[in-house]
Amino acid sequence: MSRFLISHFTRISCLLLVLTVVFSPKHILDRFTQRLHDARQYLQRHLPQAPWDEIPGPESYDAVYQVQLFSRDPVILYINDFLTSFEIEHLLQLSQGHYEVSKVYPGEDHHIDTESRASDLAFFQRDPIYDRIARRAMNIQGWRGPLAFFQPPYVQRYEVGGFYKEHYDWDPEYSQGNRITTFLAYLSDNCTGGGTNFPRLVRPRDRRWCNIIECPPSNGSGSSVKDVTFKPRLGAAIFWENMHPNGSFNENVLHSSLPVLSGVKYGLNMFTWDLGWRAPTT
Ligand SMILES: *[C@@H]1O[C@H](CO)[C@@H](O)[C@H](O)[C@H]1NC(C)=O
Ligand SMILES: *[C@@H]1O[C@H](CO)[C@@H](O)[C@H](O)[C@H]1NC(C)=O
Ligand SMILES: *[C@@H]1O[C@H](CO)[C@@H](O)[C@H](O)[C@H]1NC(C)=O
Repeated sequence: MSRFLISHFTRISCLLLVLTVVFSPKHILDRFTQRLHDARQYLQRHLPQAPWDEIPGPESYDAVYQVQLFSRDPVILYINDFLTSFEIEHLLQLSQGHYEVSKVYPGEDHHIDTESRASDLAFFQRDPIYDRIARRAMNIQGWRGPLAFFQPPYVQRYEVGGFYKEHYDWDPEYSQGNRITTFLAYLSDNCTGGGTNFPRLVRPRDRRWCNIIECPPSNGSGSSVKDVTFKPRLGAAIFWENMHPNGSFNENVLHSSLPVLSGVKYGLNMFTWDLGWRAPTT
C-alpha cells in the first residue's frame, strides 16, 4: 500500500518536473544552462592544480611577507610585501598590451560606465609566477572547499583622473555562488591620490597605522571617525571577507578607488568565488 503510494508520488513529481521544464520560459532556461556552463568552465580552468609545491619559478623561495590584522569586523588583513619586486615587474609585463576599458558588472549586464568606473583592465593567462602568488593568497585566506577558486586574474590601471566609485565586490543578484573574498595588491606607488577608501570602517586611533592609511593631522580629538583610506604602497595587499560568517553580504566592506591625481596606479585584483555559497534565508 505505502509502496504503491510512494511510486505513485514519484511518478507525479517526475511529471511535474517535466512540465515545469517544458513550460518554463526559454530565456530563463537558457540563462540557467549558460550559468552552469560558465561555472563548469571556470572550475576547469581555475581550480588550483595540485600539488602546488611543485610549481617552478625563477625564485625558489616564497615572498617574505608580514600580515597585520587591521579590522576584526569586517575581517581585513593588511599584508606587507605580499608581492616581490620581481613578481610586480612580471605581472606588469604580462598585462602589457592587453588593457581594455573596465566595465561594471551588475548581474549579467556588463557595460562601460565611466561615471562610476574609469580605469583599464588587462586579463592575463595564468602562469607559474601567478600560480605561486595565488598559492600564497590561498595560504593566507585558508582553503575554502572544493567549489572555491580564483576568478581569472587581471591588472587594473588607473591613469590621472581614474577612479572606481563606491561599490561592493559581492553581487546581490546572485543567490548561488558569489565573490566571498578579495585580495587587492598594489603594483605601483608612483602616484598621488588613488587610495582605497572604505567609508564605513572606523579609523584606528593608534597613529602607528598612519604609515599605511591616511591620517589627518592630529588635533587632540579622540573620537572615532568612520572613513579609512589605504595608501597605495608598492607590493602591499589588502585582504577582506565580503560576507558575514553566516554568509550574508557585509555592507561595511563598501569601498572605492579614489581619483588618481598624478602618476599611474596599477593594482592586482584576486577574487575568490565560492560556487557553494548560498544566500542565507532569514
Ligand atoms: C579635529 O578632528 C576631528 C576628527 O577627526 C575633525 O572632525 C575636526 O574637523 C578636526 N578639527 C580641526 C580643527 O582640524
Ligand atoms: C612615475 O610617474 C611619472 C609621471 O608622473 C612617470 O614619468 C614615470 O615614468 C613613472 N615611473 C614609473 C617607474 O612608472
Ligand atoms: C547574518 O549576520 C549579520 C551580522 O551579524 C546579521 O546582520 C544578519 O542579520 C545575519 N543574517 C541572517 C540571515 O542570519
